[in-house]
Amino acid sequence: MVDKKEESNDLSRPKAPLVPGVEYPDHPLVELTHVDKHFGDLHVLKDINLTVNKGEVLVVVGPSGSGKSTMCRTINRLETIDSGVIRIDGKPLPQEGKELAELRAEVGMVFQSFNLFANKTILENVTLAPIKVRHMDRKEAEDLAMDLLGRVGVASQANKMPSQLSGGQQQRVAIARALAMRPKVMLFDEPTSALDPEMVNEVLDVMVELAREGMTMVCITHEMGFARKAADRIVFMADGRILEENAPDEFFEHPQTDRAKDFLSKILTH
Ligand SMILES: Nc1ncnc2c1ncn2[C@@H]1O[C@H](COP(=O)(O)OP(=O)(O)OP(=O)(O)O)[C@@H](O)[C@H]1O
Ligand SMILES: [Mg+2]
Repeated sequence: MVDKKEESNDLSRPKAPLVPGVEYPDHPLVELTHVDKHFGDLHVLKDINLTVNKGEVLVVVGPSGSGKSTMCRTINRLETIDSGVIRIDGKPLPQEGKELAELRAEVGMVFQSFNLFANKTILENVTLAPIKVRHMDRKEAEDLAMDLLGRVGVASQANKMPSQLSGGQQQRVAIARALAMRPKVMLFDEPTSALDPEMVNEVLDVMVELAREGMTMVCITHEMGFARKAADRIVFMADGRILEENAPDEFFEHPQTDRAKDFLSKILTH
């Protein structure tokens, strides 16, 4: 039997355009094909080909400025691309309008800074989008929010304002808020790098739990313990390219390129 995961990770697979309205049951959940992007003269993404399968946890690592955040932001079109195709669940990313808003709702994102609405309670932060975008009624949205806040361990904070919570608690609320939209995939861009060290693990624990539950995740992180524990695959980027893509043990034990060896020797000595 052909291993499905391997098959859909084969970058040499022909990339025929998908026909609208036709179901492609074995397509990857996220697929970037020949993606290029410039910021002015700077070529930040160079022929990026990447697939993320349903339930897969991908960890993206690489030196500062290598394009990790930019790549992540193109996946929900916070950044546009110059060429190539990005598909979510088989559908090319819409350019704008209602379709784009719908697609964004399927892609949850958690950033380094907490981005909670400062003038709303924790509960309101989590119920806002489900009510506005998903047209959920208030009671249903609140039940869902309390359930999610419980899962990330901050249910008792529901009626507080964000400023009354620690950074770790705020970041867990940010995760609950993203999950409230029932996303198909969650993107994390260094979600623990702004936290005090003692709060890092409480956020990583929530992410590990999410991964165990089968959430599809793309995580940019410098937390190599998390990467080893939770990742199905590590993607190493340098200078706007994906240089390596491998299982965590393989990547950490046997990096293939000098860039990855150099990167690992720097981060693993700290
Ligand atoms: N809005 C922008 N305008 C111009 N240049 C940008 C913009 N955003 C990022 N860049 C540049 O693009 C390159 C890639 O940046 P990006 O933030 O994607 O890197 P990164 O791998 O996430 O780095 P870090 O580990 O520091 O977060 C960098 O050279 C950066 O300075
Ligand atoms: Mg970044």
